[in-house]
Amino acid sequence: MEKLNIDPKKLEIAGYVKVAGVDTEEIASYVMLPPDAAMGDYALPCFRFAKQLRKSPAAIAEELRSDILSRPNPFSSVEAVNGYLNFKFDRSETAGKVLADIIREGANYGASDEGSGKTVCIDFSSINIAKPFHIGHLSSTVIGAALYRMYLKRGYKPVGINHLGDWGTQFGKLIVAYKRWGDDEKLKKEGVMHLTEIYVKFHAEAEEDPALEDEARAWFKKIEDGDAEALRLYDMFKSLTLEEVGKVYARLGITFDSYNGEAFYNDKMGPVLERLEKLGLITESDGAKIVDLKEWGMSPCLLVKADGATLYATRDLAAAFYRKKTYDFYKSLYVVAYQQNLHFKQLFKVIELMGESWYKDLVHVPFGMVSLEDGTMSTRKGKVVWLKDVLDKAVEKAGKVIEEKNERLKDAAAVAEKVGVGSVVFFALSNNRIKDITFSYDKVLNFDGETAPYVQYTNARCRSLMKKAGDVKTLFAEPLGHEELKGLDGKEGEEVISLLKRFGAVIAEALEKYEPSIVTRYIIELARSFNRYYLANRILNAEPEARRARIALVYAVSVVLEEGLRLIGVGAPEEM
Ligand code: ARG
Repeated sequence: MEKLNIDPKKLEIAGYVKVAGVDTEEIASYVMLPPDAAMGDYALPCFRFAKQLRKSPAAIAEELRSDILSRPNPFSSVEAVNGYLNFKFDRSETAGKVLADIIREGANYGASDEGSGKTVCIDFSSINIAKPFHIGHLSSTVIGAALYRMYLKRGYKPVGINHLGDWGTQFGKLIVAYKRWGDDEKLKKEGVMHLTEIYVKFHAEAEEDPALEDEARAWFKKIEDGDAEALRLYDMFKSLTLEEVGKVYARLGITFDSYNGEAFYNDKMGPVLERLEKLGLITESDGAKIVDLKEWGMSPCLLVKADGATLYATRDLAAAFYRKKTYDFYKSLYVVAYQQNLHFKQLFKVIELMGESWYKDLVHVPFGMVSLEDGTMSTRKGKVVWLKDVLDKAVEKAGKVIEEKNERLKDAAAVAEKVGVGSVVFFALSNNRIKDITFSYDKVLNFDGETAPYVQYTNARCRSLMKKAGDVKTLFAEPLGHEELKGLDGKEGEEVISLLKRFGAVIAEALEKYEPSIVTRYIIELARSFNRYYLANRILNAEPEARRARIALVYAVSVVLEEGLRLIGVGAPEEM
């Protein structure tokens, strides 16, 4: 099981639930946000205890409820429904309080200092030099960046690390390819695309002429030995790639605190390997150095090849120690595809065997594959889908839709960029991250779907209402009165309020599960719920007693939608 980082509110609730033989942390880990916000603020599924207590979930829920209510507690209600316990905190002044909080706090709403003093390393995006920034790196990039923003919002100190793939024999191949087929004109124009082209050519040619591989090995050796010519080319490939991915990161609004990649650890593996030797954890196998993990049902972790070469795992081992020493992290995350599950299991196990208690704080955050409707990709064969091209095409298509909808839109190009790029990011973050997903332009740009444009459009509607309603500061200088708040009565209004209320808890849950899609789903819910409200209620021309409260609701929805979108890395155009 992934190690969770439990929302303090859930721990508080769990403190009131007494189940023999189950500790508070475990109970807290079962507490969830009910699917329908009207049911309660939190819910506890009691089937979790059925085996232990040998009773039906419904009976357990009933008993726990009486027990909780027999003692002082902070809840306004505790209900047992279908084997669930639903908890509500005091909501006597819910609507008024929620709206006042949002009006007062603005974009800060939902923030907390629960993470104060805790550093979280997030290894994400971690692209490979001289290989294209393709759609396979999309998930790691956007999941990692979303977690980064959410940690920041909840008071943690995140450290974003782009663990560049900037070391390995492929650089030898690239030099050979460049020397034979490199074209500086093309390189200037096409950048990494040209490098990919010649890299692919290398593999095709090497099948005919194996001598190319030897040549490549020799060049890589030169890089290792610090040969000037080899290093010059290596550096050129690296800066070319970084310049290009930098443009994509800028469009996605992403920055990193560190670009220390694999090469950075070249001189940091020695001491770790020595310690492993001293601890007697290294076994020699055909001249290679491995850590035997048979006892834990895993293949061995290969650290040094027979020819003395170190590996990806060796660098990751050194990197883990370096990060612990440098950042003294509370948690260290690796946002990397599930294909590397075994790699991280091995890595964490080796660190555990070394006696480092912080192995528990290392978390692999895996995700599924993204493919396009029309086929997948592989660098070697050159069938690659470039992230930049996907973004460009989405922006172009978004531009067309926007023009159809609103010909007179100001800054149409800037809006198209936000909608197009946003739609790709939003899509990548809308499903449980472990799911494999298939990308389609029509799907992600559908204004009526569970998409960025749907939410962005809803928000623009709120913004336009606000513009007509007048200045927020003046409007809400006086708090909303009891009578005014009645203007929000009704099922639709209550639903919007209960969703607004849980924003902070939703972010906390997203962090607890390392699952930004929880925020994305929430934003969709909120937009939908608001649209139902909007259909059922007059706003600008509401009865005078109700008007101010309804405008406050619109304002609050727009604040939370925009902040939610910002957290997942999607822009919110004022007008669409
Ligand atoms: N560069 C690797 C890849 O593209 C991902 C690196 C992930 N980070 C790490 N510390 N291993 O597959």
